[in-house]
Amino acid sequence: MDIASRQRVFDLRARSFEEFSGWSRNEQLYHLCVEPLNRMPLTTWCMDVGGGTGWVARRNLRETGRPWVVVDLSFAMGQHARPALFVQGDAAALPFEHASIGYIVMRSLLHYVSAADVLVEIVRTLAPEGGFVIAQKVLPAATDASHWYQALFRLRNPSGSHLGTEVELRDAMDKAGLVVVSSAYFREKRLAELERWISKDGTAPEESRVEVKRLLLDPPKSVLREGHHRIEDGMLYFERTWVVLECRRQSP
Ligand SMILES: C[S@@+](CC[C@H](N)C(=O)[O-])C[C@H]1O[C@@H](n2cnc3c(N)ncnc32)[C@H](O)[C@@H]1O
Repeated sequence: MDIASRQRVFDLRARSFEEFSGWSRNEQLYHLCVEPLNRMPLTTWCMDVGGGTGWVARRNLRETGRPWVVVDLSFAMGQHARPALFVQGDAAALPFEHASIGYIVMRSLLHYVSAADVLVEIVRTLAPEGGFVIAQKVLPAATDASHWYQALFRLRNPSGSHLGTEVELRDAMDKAGLVVVSSAYFREKRLAELERWISKDGTAPEESRVEVKRLLLDPPKSVLREGHHRIEDGMLYFERTWVVLECRRQSP
């Protein structure tokens, strides 16, 4: 699926995105994304790439008065980002000068895009002493259910790219010229209406929904174990892990 189709999906999801994606307003995840800012001047320019409705940016701006800009493909998502500035754009072609941004957050974007194309832009726009935090849901490392997780991901996200493991995420940082200076984990516990989750709030392709349901009703044993996956009374419960990496540019 092309980038325009991805944009349309998020335009459709904008109104209910934060309510549906409960993690987006999670306290622990928010604090992990902004904690390094406590060691930076209040005047540091901050950017939320693929920032969507801008929860991280607008909350931190309200709390600290720091200047924030949200960059996102979807105009409708960005309309929720105020009082942060919003720029509609592609993370793989950021409309900013070299080394102009002191702090960059990228949460839940990498699995939709080409990691190499976007990370090269992060490194280009990040100030030499700047901080970059990436928060990403990841697949369990040693699992015999990769095919199950990937099939589910592709069916629900035809405009997606690749759902990776922590090792793949770290490797992508290294290849892009970023050094990981600290890492943390967030364990998301999700309870969602089954039909709403299958349809991804009405945006997943109709023709894939039967197959998504079939996969959910018959997961590999390791998924039940690792993900605490359960379906009861029309509700889906599962857990998944997010990795949050604080990175710097490698010295030249
Ligand atoms: C799962 S949402 C995450 C939003 C936000 N980062 C958050 O954590 O709440 C992914 C966002 O990435 C945006 N997006 C996808 N591809 C993009 C691209 N190439 N450039 C900029 N934004 C993109 C989507 O429009 C969507 O708002």
